[in-house]
Amino acid sequence: AKEPLRVLVTGAAGQIGYALVPMVARGAMLGPDQPVILHMLDIAPAAEALNGVKMELIDAAFPLLKGVVATTDVVEACTGVNVAVMVGGFPRKEGMERKDVMSKNVSIYKSQASALEKHAAPNCKVLVVANPANTNALILKEFAPSIPQKNITCLTRLDHNRALGQVSERLKVQVADVKNVIIWGNHSSTQYPDVNHASVKTSSGAKPVRELVANDEWLKGEFITTVQQRGAAIIKARKFSSALSAASSACDHIRDWVLGTPEGSWVSMGVYSDGSYNVPAGLVYSFPVTCKNGEWSIVQGLSIDEFSRKKLDATAQELSDEKSLAYSCLQ
Ligand code: NAI
Repeated sequence: AKEPLRVLVTGAAGQIGYALVPMVARGAMLGPDQPVILHMLDIAPAAEALNGVKMELIDAAFPLLKGVVATTDVVEACTGVNVAVMVGGFPRKEGMERKDVMSKNVSIYKSQASALEKHAAPNCKVLVVANPANTNALILKEFAPSIPQKNITCLTRLDHNRALGQVSERLKVQVADVKNVIIWGNHSSTQYPDVNHASVKTSSGAKPVRELVANDEWLKGEFITTVQQRGAAIIKARKFSSALSAASSACDHIRDWVLGTPEGSWVSMGVYSDGSYNVPAGLVYSFPVTCKNGEWSIVQGLSIDEFSRKKLDATAQELSDEKSLAYSCLQ
């Protein structure tokens, strides 16, 4: 039998946390034969709710779940964790300036970075979900210098999955038959959902999405804006954020990272830029990646047309601005 792996979920008493922890306990993140111990962190005002989630995890009697730690102590939460999913953060409230929200999150991610660096298991894999996700991940990386930068990522898989979903609905094909869409850049409304390299499995072989859709106006317009604004559309409809799909996509992100992507297909992950595709190094930016042996690598050599170039640059610019704002909060 495999040794259990420890999975940290911060903000575990929140919306996404409540959807995510049962998925992890059922094996959706690390596989159906991998036992897990859940570490759940939240802040003091949520301690009672967090304990309620722990009670439900016990009541659900998940065979793979070998233990539950529910705590408001960051050190206890981080100790020995193999995977850290950072969902906790400070939400933007009405009337708050961007800088005030950034400042709150910078201080949270700075201190949690130190706790992870000191207490997590060696080679711990980190996924930041909380917004601003890319910049929170960058701060975490900066303040956890002994964690390899390759181990710190942010979630854009939800946007990637949303793009697959839109293509599947448009073409009336199975979502599992669509592959190789790309989300470039920031997990924000400047992200660029790109189908130029995407294809659909058909009875007569793989066909490019662009050829099957045969409507560039839709691909360059409504498709992009629908994916960019899907989060807001869900909040409008549900009055809560997209917790189910965010939780499911977080599981997809870690599962593919740990267990590998299928031959010939890639996924989108927010990772530390090495300058690929002329994206400035030193930003956490979403790229197409393949994963093997627990490591991601950026897919190289894809052609970038002029339309795409502008979009890649615009979202990089937004991330540079966010980075400056985050750094100005550190002073
Ligand atoms: P929520 O407000 O329901 O839950 C957040 C939880 O974090 C709360 O329980 C809160 O007490 C906790 N928290 C706050 N500060 C903390 C700290 N310092 N340490 C530990 N826990 C702390 O929010 P929800 O809907 O679960 O969303 C969580 C985050 O995920 C938000 O920032 C949201 O914007 C983001 N998000 C990201 C997505 C992505 O694709 N990257 C998609 C959807 C949401």
